Formats: sequence, C-alpha cells, structure tokens
Amino acid sequence: IQPGPLTGKKVVITAGPTYEAIDPVRFIANRSSGKMGYALAQAAAEAGADVTLISGPVALTAPIGITFLKVETAQQMYDAVMSHLAQTTVFIGCAAVADYRPADPAPTKLKKSAKDDLSLQLRLNPDIITAVASSGERPELVVGFAAETDDLQHYAQQKLQHKGLDMIAANQVGDGLAFGQDNNALEIFWEGGHKSLLEAPKLEIARELITLITERYHAKNSI
Ligand code: C5P
Repeated sequence: IQPGPLTGKKVVITAGPTYEAIDPVRFIANRSSGKMGYALAQAAAEAGADVTLISGPVALTAPIGITFLKVETAQQMYDAVMSHLAQTTVFIGCAAVADYRPADPAPTKLKKSAKDDLSLQLRLNPDIITAVASSGERPELVVGFAAETDDLQHYAQQKLQHKGLDMIAANQVGDGLAFGQDNNALEIFWEGGHKSLLEAPKLEIARELITLITERYHAKNSI
C-alpha cells in the first residue's frame, strides 16, 4: 500500500439505509443504494486511511482492505458506530438512517384486516451523527450528508449547525436524482466556506470530497 494524505488516520463511515421491522416480513426504510458511502470508503482507503465501513442492508460488496460491519437497524448502527469511535480522526455519516422505528414490532406476520385505514405507532431513533459530534471521543472532523428535495442550502446549513458538524455534503434528491444513480453532484458547506462538486461518477465525487476533508483537517490543525 502506498502512503497517502490520510495514512495513519482512522476514518469511520456509515452507508446505506436502515431497516426498521414492522413485523418479521415488513419494514420501514429510506431509499439508499449505499453507493456514495461505499465510494467514500474506497476513496478514503486509497488516501491511506484505516477505514471502518458500517453499512445497512445494500446489494454491494465492500471495498477490499477495510474493516466492514453490516447492521440492519438504526439502533444497531448507533451501537456499532459508538463502539468503533475510539481514536477516529474523521467520521462521515453517509447512511440514510430511518428517523423513526415501529414502536412495537409484531413477533408474527400481521394479517390484513377489513379496515380501510391502519395506523402505526412510531418512536424516534437516536440521531447517530449528533451523538458522534457531541461524544467525549469526538473525531476531529465530523462530516454529514443532507438529501434535500428543496431549499438545499438553507436546510444543509441548518443541519450543519444543529448537529454540530464540521462539514455537510448536500445533494438534491427527487425526480430520479441521486438515489441509486451512479452519478452524483454535491454542495459542500462548512463554517465560512462552500464548494460545489459538479455531476460526476460517485467514486470521482468521493475522491474530491476526501481531498476536501483532508484540506479541512489540515486547516483545523494548523491553527
Ligand atoms: O436530518 P437528516 O436525516 O437529513 O440528516 C442527515 C445526516 O444525519 C446524515 O449525515 C445522516 O447519516 C445523519 N443521521 C444520523 N442518524 C439519524 C438520522 C440522520 O446519523 N437518526
């Protein structure tokens, strides 16, 4: 392995959706192929980092040479992240975590009833990246993602602040954009800065984002 700009640095990345069981057959999830998170894991490994990829259920193979953990639920992802946080330099939350889970998943398959309406009680899941950013083992750089259908900059900057992040990568979704696609385009925001990454294959975008993260890391550490 060639030394790179992130040699000796531990990078933890979450990717993919989480599945929240309604019963043994059905679940609630977000649309996420995991492609962006897996591309980031590869790009970080290429830059020399010691990468841990914590992934929800996706149909992708993990890049070689990294530590790989597969989880299903937001709670499992939270537990896996927290137990791998020690000595982490960069955390990238790329997963599309389900904000809510069914409060009381059924142990056996729910049967169809004759009623037209059915309601499901949901309970809030932990916000993983917020927990990482406020942890006693906070990585030096915490980078989030924001998939937005509208008002991208406003919501992204709000999340940057509210979640206590160092950087946020926002992408426009809806109308066939981003989800499951091989290309992506990102608007990156940090305190006092902004950069647009124009549409390109996800691996190229990932490499550019890793370069930007490395620059921010050095900027933060040269003060
Ligand atoms: O609030 P929203 O879900 O849009 O924020 C997206 C960012 O927060 C992503 O980085 C995502 O991985 C992270 N997130 C999380 N835990 C949650 C919800 C979102 O880490 N429960």
